[in-house]
Amino acid sequence: MINVFIPGGAGYLGSVLSTLLVKKKFKVTVYDSLMFDNNSLNHLKKFNNFKFKKCDVNDIKNISSQLKTNDVIIPLAALVGAPFCAKYPKLAKKTNLDLIKKIVKNIGKDQLLILPNTNSGYGIGKKDSYCDENSPLNPVSLYGKLKVESEKIAMDHENSVCFRLATVFGVSHRMRLDLLVNDFVYRALRDKYIVLFEKNFRRNFIHTKDVAETFLYSINNHKKLKNNIYNLGLSSANLTKYQLCNKIKKYIKDLKIIVSNIAKDPDKRDYIVSNKKLEKTGWKPKYSLDYGIKELIHYLKDKNFRPGNY
Ligand SMILES: NC(=O)c1ccc[n+]([C@@H]2O[C@H](COP(=O)([O-])OP(=O)(O)OC[C@H]3O[C@@H](n4cnc5c(N)ncnc54)[C@H](O)[C@@H]3O)[C@@H](O)[C@H]2O)c1
Repeated sequence: MINVFIPGGAGYLGSVLSTLLVKKKFKVTVYDSLMFDNNSLNHLKKFNNFKFKKCDVNDIKNISSQLKTNDVIIPLAALVGAPFCAKYPKLAKKTNLDLIKKIVKNIGKDQLLILPNTNSGYGIGKKDSYCDENSPLNPVSLYGKLKVESEKIAMDHENSVCFRLATVFGVSHRMRLDLLVNDFVYRALRDKYIVLFEKNFRRNFIHTKDVAETFLYSINNHKKLKNNIYNLGLSSANLTKYQLCNKIKKYIKDLKIIVSNIAKDPDKRDYIVSNKKLEKTGWKPKYSLDYGIKELIHYLKDKNFRPGNY
């Protein structure tokens, strides 16, 4: 049985990933301080191949034995997003960067490290050509800078795979409504209108379950994938914000899209991303943007809906 340690595994991505790996019979250990949701892993407690501990993973004493005994380490604990990191810069550095340094220092060369980065650093100043893994990253926020640094540290470990994630969408056991697709679907249902600034800014997207499936894919294919960085997004979803709104309108017919030039969007990301490097390894995503939008509508309309039915 393969042992997987997921610090921060109770979060938006972690709760979906842990569910998939437990169902696939991995032995999964999650340590998380439960900053947001006390219940996001309750549905896994009945499984013998799942262990959870509430603790601060920044304290090396809490995690050192797990770092010695697990085959795969997937650090997801982080302060996620530019505003959160700007508000708590010291804690952001400690969790988003120093923790990765500690992990790399304390694991052996046979242990696989899988690290999620964001692809948002591509978005500054590179507009009209596809960004690939060799395109320069120019992060502007502390969050982006720490993620780029942590990716470099992870790549120092000789058995590692890093993914530069597109904007994630979809339902999770710890739900986030601050991500672009989730936010737009939520507002479309609640307000029946979306005011769009910079309507032609483009972004790339990926479903939570595809992120989880891709981490599983990288465990199963680590010999082929290791020591590399991959963009992870849907090649079918390099879309402008206006196109995204129109996709949502297909399912919420009375949605009004109000294009406005009165204000600028503080989020300047505008870029298209190539996912070819990962696709060439044989990887294929399973969940389209349309699937995610329909799922989100269902979830947001039905308070009894439970996500993650694999
Ligand atoms: N969601 C996205 O769109 C996206 C995109 C790119 C990269 N990522 C990366 O994926 C990772 C997970 O993101 P997410 O969206 O699941 O975020 P999230 O905020 O939902 O999850 C982070 C988890 O880490 C835990 N945590 C934070 N500090 C901790 C500490 N000191 N000790 C123990 N637990 C701690 C939190 O309680 C939370 O459960 C992050 O590294 C993030 O940068 C996410």
